[in-house]
Amino acid sequence: MNIAVRYYSRGGNTAKIAKAIAEAVGVEAKTVSEPLSGDVDILFLGSAPYAFDVDDEVKKFIQGIEVSVGKVVNFSTSAAVKSTRKYVEKLFAEKKIPVAEEEFSCRGAFAMLHKGKPDESDQKAAADFARKVIS
Ligand SMILES: Cc1cc2nc3c(=O)[nH]c(=O)nc-3n(C[C@H](O)[C@H](O)[C@H](O)COP(=O)(O)O)c2cc1C
Repeated sequence: MNIAVRYYSRGGNTAKIAKAIAEAVGVEAKTVSEPLSGDVDILFLGSAPYAFDVDDEVKKFIQGIEVSVGKVVNFSTSAAVKSTRKYVEKLFAEKKIPVAEEEFSCRGAFAMLHKGKPDESDQKAAADFARKVIS
């Protein structure tokens, strides 16, 4: 099975989760500045919301996908919204790439909120989630 992990992280919160997921599934976590280089069965895509949307870098990455992707598994950190799934799924719909119902999301520190998040327990939960997805 070909698996890829891509993420965008301004402050490092989503990067922590990306690394936990990548380690669990045995690949390298790369940022969205690195396009997919070959067909993948599962793409774990990580992002965070900034003012109720994902960064343009995430949108550019999705719009630029030129390989076959079996399914996308979204993961995100956020201060308030449940996840970033709704921000990315319309872009994937345009590419006819399915986004799995299953996703991983947790709180990420922002200003005075959620200090220390994501923490070790979030990283462990993300790794467990990823292992389940590929099993
Ligand atoms: C400029 C800015 C805008 C944000 N807007 C939102 C938002 O609309 N909804 C939300 O739930 N969190 C929002 N957050 C919180 C971030 O999504 C959260 O801290 C996330 O963990 C950041 O991930 P990162 O460290 O990987 O960039 C915002 C954070 C920043 C810095």
